[in-house]
Amino acid sequence: MTHRIPGPAGHPLMGNLNAMRHDFLQFLVTTTRDYGTVSQVRAGPSRMVLLANPEDIADVLVKRAELFYKTRSTKTLLAPLLGDGLVTLENDRHRQHRRIMQPAFHMRQVQHYTDSMVTQTQAWLQQRTPGETLDLVPAVATLMLNIVIETFFSAALAETDTVRTALQTFSKALDLRVRSPIPLPRWLPTEHNRILNHAMTTLDKVVYHLIADRRQQPGTHYDLLGGLLAEHDAENEQSLTDKEIRDEIATIFFAGYETTTTTLSWIFYLLAIHPPVRQKLHAEITQTLNGSVPTAESLKQMPFLQQVIKETLRLYPAAWLFDREPTQEVSIGGYEVRAGQTLFISPYVVQRSPAYFDMPDEFLPERFTPEFEKQLPRFAYFPFGGGSRICIGQPFALHTIALLLATLIPQLDLEVLPNQVIRPAAAATLVPANGILMRVV
Ligand code: HEM
Repeated sequence: MTHRIPGPAGHPLMGNLNAMRHDFLQFLVTTTRDYGTVSQVRAGPSRMVLLANPEDIADVLVKRAELFYKTRSTKTLLAPLLGDGLVTLENDRHRQHRRIMQPAFHMRQVQHYTDSMVTQTQAWLQQRTPGETLDLVPAVATLMLNIVIETFFSAALAETDTVRTALQTFSKALDLRVRSPIPLPRWLPTEHNRILNHAMTTLDKVVYHLIADRRQQPGTHYDLLGGLLAEHDAENEQSLTDKEIRDEIATIFFAGYETTTTTLSWIFYLLAIHPPVRQKLHAEITQTLNGSVPTAESLKQMPFLQQVIKETLRLYPAAWLFDREPTQEVSIGGYEVRAGQTLFISPYVVQRSPAYFDMPDEFLPERFTPEFEKQLPRFAYFPFGGGSRICIGQPFALHTIALLLATLIPQLDLEVLPNQVIRPAAAATLVPANGILMRVV
């Protein structure tokens, strides 16, 4: 017998659109609480199934992953900017690109970037002055952009500005595209499309120029671009073409830049409003480093730093929602779901569930003991997703965040300016809705 998936009734025509617009995150949390771990929500005529049971999520992302694709709406939204990259590819081509790209993302490779990341961070720190007001997210974004330029391209100084402009324009276009309620065809002469097309032309010009340069002198740079150019798929001796490399660079930038920026911003905010946590972290970092700069080795001696990062990613998982659709009718958690139906999977919802986390809305880094982690179901905590599409940038993100914090915390004290309403917004990533203004102490 087929049961109807439960969910809030909402308006006959609009469905739950009003509640979603008002506070999407809270709406999803409340829906799971009130209707159970398989629920249905409705935006106008579109119905989405929200999965919040770790076993069902494992089923979709791992056990029967071959039956679930990224949704057509996500691909329609992103393909014009990202082309055929990891986020939009499926099946054999997805597997082949992952095989080719994986080595460039291994921890050993990522650690090569340590020195340049520390140098960039110190240069950023030099520009801070006591009493200065920081608009936190754009300030962190500036630092991250410098790191991306170095680690992706190690662009020569003369090229840095061109690369920066290309990436900034591209980031703006991504933002516009993701926020636009209905993505318009690219040929329509709207202001929106003008920015988009300009971003694509600028990015393509820069990236193809860098690729051509590198093909002339292979093996000279140990950055991500060098990695993508050098690797080939041992199974069929294929390398990535220039167009595929361009698409993967755009994809990695899309997936990595804002997520890492947002996560770091939330960490600074949480530390500022939890002085005992900040003090404990400060003590761990300064005692371990004893005046020297952080290295991949010294980061391993900072367990509390890792706990702070994990707990922040629990409360504020930058990729707070992702989607899939079954390629055929399937049964999930006792319900029949038809082919093409959108499934929502939200780390934000599951990671704030009292079923797995005591005092789920509190910032308590100490909860992440090895024993606690061992008993957690695999998909009760999954800020980087799982299965064949698990975040390829996870080592890069965790290393960068830890390194930046270990460099900055001993020298940068921030306080939150009063009279701000600070809450996460359900945007492309989980950004602070109104930004966060901070003062350098
Ligand atoms: C804290 C920062 C980050 C978070 C929370 C995060 C989270 C995620 C999640 C949840 C997914 C899986 C989405 C899905 O299954 O549909 C994902 C995929 C991906 N991430 Fe990340 N990510 C972060 C940083 C990065 C960085 C730094 C990079 C690259 C340098 C990156 C590159 C990617 C790529 C290319 C994918 C697509 C993988 C595929 O479909 O095969 N991410 N990320």
